[in-house]
This record gives sequence, structure tokens and C-alpha cells, in this order.
Amino acid sequence: MNSTNHEPKTDAAPESPERRKLLGWLVSVINAVVAIVVLAPTAKLISAPLITRRRRGQWVPALPDDLQMGETREATIELEVKDGYRTTTRRYVVYVHRNRNGLLCFDPSCTHLGCRVRFQDEKQRYFCPCHGGVFDSEGKVVSGPPPKPLVQHPVKSDGGQIYVYMEV
Ligand code: FES
Repeated sequence: MNSTNHEPKTDAAPESPERRKLLGWLVSVINAVVAIVVLAPTAKLISAPLITRRRRGQWVPALPDDLQMGETREATIELEVKDGYRTTTRRYVVYVHRNRNGLLCFDPSCTHLGCRVRFQDEKQRYFCPCHGGVFDSEGKVVSGPPPKPLVQHPVKSDGGQIYVYMEV
């Protein structure tokens, strides 16, 4: 025995560069598939609120158009809203008013801190129950802390129906 070579003997042929390249490519493909399988649901979960936040508007029927001059009426509007993966029905209350210039539609949220105002027919005023804010029938501040008029929604009459443009 004159051999000092301690390397193990193998029958396997040395790896060729092509085989190494193919294995590297295969590992990359498997990694990409695993990354897609793991990251896709996570990305969808994260992006769902962003999708919901994207505002879209639509004209929604609010009332039959039998509103008299100077009259204010409360209307409840139902909207189908896509909320991530679900579709839900949301209800919104608005006030629609007709004056000599046409129709006006008010959001009932007080512009002070957001309490819901109520319209009193006999006084022709909106009253806020929280801090005594008062608005006239055209949404302008009459008294109290509200800093600005009631927010308006676009409104139109078409075919005997009053429609309100709502952003969701
Ligand atoms: S929230 Fe309406 S007056 Fe303050």
C-alpha cells in the first residue's frame, strides 16, 4: 500500500456546469412559487382596506319628487358598499330642501364635532343636540360653535324622483 490519498472514492460523475445551472434555475422557480403562495394572501389582506377607502360615487334615489317650495324632508338612503371581500348595505340619512333656486341636500353631521342635527319644521332650523349649534334651512350657521355650514351632497330631480350623489 503506497497510497496516501484519503479522499473517498465515488462512482458519481463530477457535476457538469449545465446540471448545476439547471438545478439553480429549478431552485429559483420553486422559491418564486413559494413566495407567491405565501405573499399573495398577505398582500391581498393588506390592500383590502385601501380598496375600501377608494371613494366611488353614485346617484341614489332618495325621495319621490313631491317636495313643496320651502319644504325640508328627511330621506334614508341605502347603499351597497364593497368592504374588502364583503358587500354590505349601509344606511345614510340626508335632508333634502327645495327653495326658489332648486334642490339642496344636507348631510346631518354637525360641522362642529359631528353630532347628528335634527330639522325642526316649525322653526325652519337644524338643531344640534350636543353643543347647541343651529343652522338655517339652507344649512348656514345661525348660532353656536359650528365653524361652517352643513355639508351638501349633489342632488337632482329626474323623472319624478330625487336623486342624491353619494360617495362611499
Ligand atoms: S357637535 Fe354640534 S355644536 Fe358641537
